[in-house]
Amino acid sequence: MSSILLDQHKEFDSLLEELSYRLSARQLSMSDISETHTKLVLASSTHFAEEERLMGELSYETALADAHRAAHVEFMRRLVGLLSEAEASKDPINRALDTLLFLNSWLRKHGTEHDQPLIDALKGGVPEPG
Ligand SMILES: [Fe+2]
Repeated sequence: MSSILLDQHKEFDSLLEELSYRLSARQLSMSDISETHTKLVLASSTHFAEEERLMGELSYETALADAHRAAHVEFMRRLVGLLSEAEASKDPINRALDTLLFLNSWLRKHGTEHDQPLIDALKGGVPEPG
């Protein structure tokens, strides 16, 4: 089961890295940003739903599950703001790049604090308290 999560993590990382590279190289138009934003929202929704489904199946510790779900909600809130922030900016490419770099860093922290304990629990280990 955890290999599904790992594959989704890799897919998500690849999408963010490609977008970061193309943004920094200024190889994206506003419509490219919009299209990629839609892909990120879909990938995030699918991935978060899978993690939350697995937490439910696993009878995951309530405090860990609640904190993990809250982190997902916060991420989606920030992600949903990405497009409108870029569109409203006089420099949408740089604005989108700043936000994306933040999201990339946030996701790595989320992986360590929330996703890895879930993956450990799925493997039969005991999740570390957050
Ligand atoms: Fe997560």
